Amino acid sequence: MAKTGLYTGLDIGTTSIKVVVAEYIEGQMNVIGVGNSKSEGLDRGIIVDIEKTVGSIRRAISQAEEKAGIKITNVSVGLPATSLQMERCSGMIAVGATSKEINDEDVFNVAMAAMVRSTPPERKIISVLPQNFTVDGFEGIKDPRGMIGVRLEMSGILFTGPKTIVHNIQKAVEKADLHIDRLVITPLSLGSAILEDGEKEFGTILIDLGGGQTTTSVMHNRELKFSAVSSEGGDNVTRDISVVLNTSHSSAEALKINYGNAYPEHASGTEEFPVDVIGQEEPVKVTEKYLAEIIEARLVEIFNQAKDVLSEINVLNVPGGIVLTGGAASIPGMVELAQAVFEVNVRLHVPSHMGLRNPVFSSVISLVEYAASLTEINCLVESARTGDHFVPINSGYGVKPCSISTNESFEQTIHQEEYAGDDYEEEYVREKGEGIVQWAKKKWSKIFD
Ligand SMILES: Nc1ncnc2c1ncn2[C@@H]1O[C@H](COP(=O)(O)OP(=O)(O)OP(=O)(O)O)[C@@H](O)[C@H]1O
Ligand SMILES: [Mg+2]
Repeated sequence: MAKTGLYTGLDIGTTSIKVVVAEYIEGQMNVIGVGNSKSEGLDRGIIVDIEKTVGSIRRAISQAEEKAGIKITNVSVGLPATSLQMERCSGMIAVGATSKEINDEDVFNVAMAAMVRSTPPERKIISVLPQNFTVDGFEGIKDPRGMIGVRLEMSGILFTGPKTIVHNIQKAVEKADLHIDRLVITPLSLGSAILEDGEKEFGTILIDLGGGQTTTSVMHNRELKFSAVSSEGGDNVTRDISVVLNTSHSSAEALKINYGNAYPEHASGTEEFPVDVIGQEEPVKVTEKYLAEIIEARLVEIFNQAKDVLSEINVLNVPGGIVLTGGAASIPGMVELAQAVFEVNVRLHVPSHMGLRNPVFSSVISLVEYAASLTEINCLVESARTGDHFVPINSGYGVKPCSISTNESFEQTIHQEEYAGDDYEEEYVREKGEGIVQWAKKKWSKIFD
């Protein structure tokens, strides 16, 4: 059934806090409120001052409340991919001694079984994504409720992250008087929301160029397979301009936005603009090309960091190429520069929603879209992680109260599985009569097997 209801996304970024409130009517998304407030209390994507962050969140929320004309109480919050780990997980339960219909509680219990593992004390389970259920040996089931069986199995993907980062985000959001409906790993929602079907399926690299960090991720087979965070972003570009041109941070930011280009070959060597230099009364003239060279130097460094991590896992030439987004991707010439560095197809994603046509909003919109796209099964499995009692609206399977559990006390039964195919050396030659689509699928699926 198509979604109906209100969804609010909260993106706690280093440069700014973004809020989007959207109303869904029969699956149709309508943005009814937006907030965007300067961020304080974060450094390179991480909260370093909870109180200041709370103040910034409150400001962005009240802007969105004013525009939407509602009080925001619940939010889906983005979580950076810093030190994120992903592993496959699986669990099995006996539904009953004799065959009976599988219900919500069985799904809850099998999800609990799939999460049984020892998590190091400094890490926390952030999310569990169910992939497949198996009922009495019959595989590939997406929703086992209502089916008859004695044995239920679930396989999925489990995400863990540093407890401190997760705690600080939860603390700041709760102190801003908001209830967290869902913590969403930002590259996961971003990849799910902004990539086209084929890009998600066959493999695409997603680079989110924020202010304080750059996140490089890979989506393949509709799953997030890899994510790496570098603590450099658009703010480093601004700092470089400020240092090289000896101008204030705010003037450097304005120069970047008004005259900046990431690809010096496209910048004019004759067009000049005035720069207020510290300690000098008269402004100094600088060419667009010179400014572009300063910008290019830092961006090449950021792209090379991404290139290094991608070549380590042999995923530089995925069929979908590279999709750039995030505020810093707005600099003209960015696509050309990325193309020159990576030597693959590159496109820029800019949201198409009215009033939000700027890549700074890509993440927050994706949080809303991701939250709205989750199925009842996703929510049931997630409730096994949080201990919250989730009652599906349309289930009709008679939910019994679910027991509350914490993740910390689980014991280890499953070991971690690496996604990255370090030993991938096989050449995938296209066979005679094999379509390009099948060939690409086979080739890229091997990387992550
Ligand atoms: N039009 C523009 N031209 C150039 N740069 C821009 C433009 N708009 C925004 N930026 C840059 O984008 C960056 C902010 O992007 P974004 O809002 O995606 O980051 P964030 O989410 O706050 O931070 P992060 O994701 O790193 O924690 C800043 O460095 C800003 O200067
Ligand atoms: Mg961001």
